[in-house]
Amino acid sequence: MSMLRVLAISGSERSGSWNHHLLAVAVKALQAHGVQVDPLDLRALALPLYDGDFQQAHGVPDNVLRLRDALQAADALLLVTPEYNGFPPPLVVNSFDWLSRVGAEGDKPAGLVATAGKPVALMSASPGLLGGLRSLNYTRQYLSMAFAMMPVPQQFALARANEAFDETGALKDTKQRASVETVIAGLLKVAAALKNAPA
Ligand SMILES: Cc1cc2nc3c(=O)[nH]c(=O)nc-3n(C[C@H](O)[C@H](O)[C@H](O)COP(=O)(O)O)c2cc1C
Repeated sequence: MSMLRVLAISGSERSGSWNHHLLAVAVKALQAHGVQVDPLDLRALALPLYDGDFQQAHGVPDNVLRLRDALQAADALLLVTPEYNGFPPPLVVNSFDWLSRVGAEGDKPAGLVATAGKPVALMSASPGLLGGLRSLNYTRQYLSMAFAMMPVPQQFALARANEAFDETGALKDTKQRASVETVIAGLLKVAAALKNAPA
């Protein structure tokens, strides 16, 4: 079997983000499993807030196609995102809303085709006591219901994220490190099974 490819996305636009820190830990865990990790910086796509008049006048921004292409190339997605008021943040929702407007072109699939049937693992980090847990079910529902993605049941919400990392960026707590591993193992199990499944 060829190497699994996982697209790694942080839902935070903030430098010094705790979710970037957690994503970095998860990326190391993925790489330790021999996975090719393709990072994508949502903020760097610089997408305008979705606006039907904008789309009518200018079409879908080219950078949305980068998200579509990255998803198409990946066997799975790892999304590590903060919650804002118990909900996935605008950066995530806006990027995926734009993606849903991408139509098929030549041999390139529509945005919703690139996501369909693709496994996704969810993590969150917050300085708060729940670690962003409240948003994960909404994100799960959003990606499965609208994008036909396959969220794996394992997930991890890192509470007190501002105290969780040592100076090397590693998680101090062994149980938290194990939680990351559990999510990664769940994602890779599904991704490998789907990659090997008959078409
Ligand atoms: C608009 C807004 C809403 C927030 N709502 C929540 C929340 O519902 N739950 C929570 O745990 N933290 C909440 N926070 C705090 C974030 O968890 C905190 O800013 C965190 O550092 C954001 O993640 P990042 O460090 O990856 O950027 C909120 C922050 C902002 C700016």
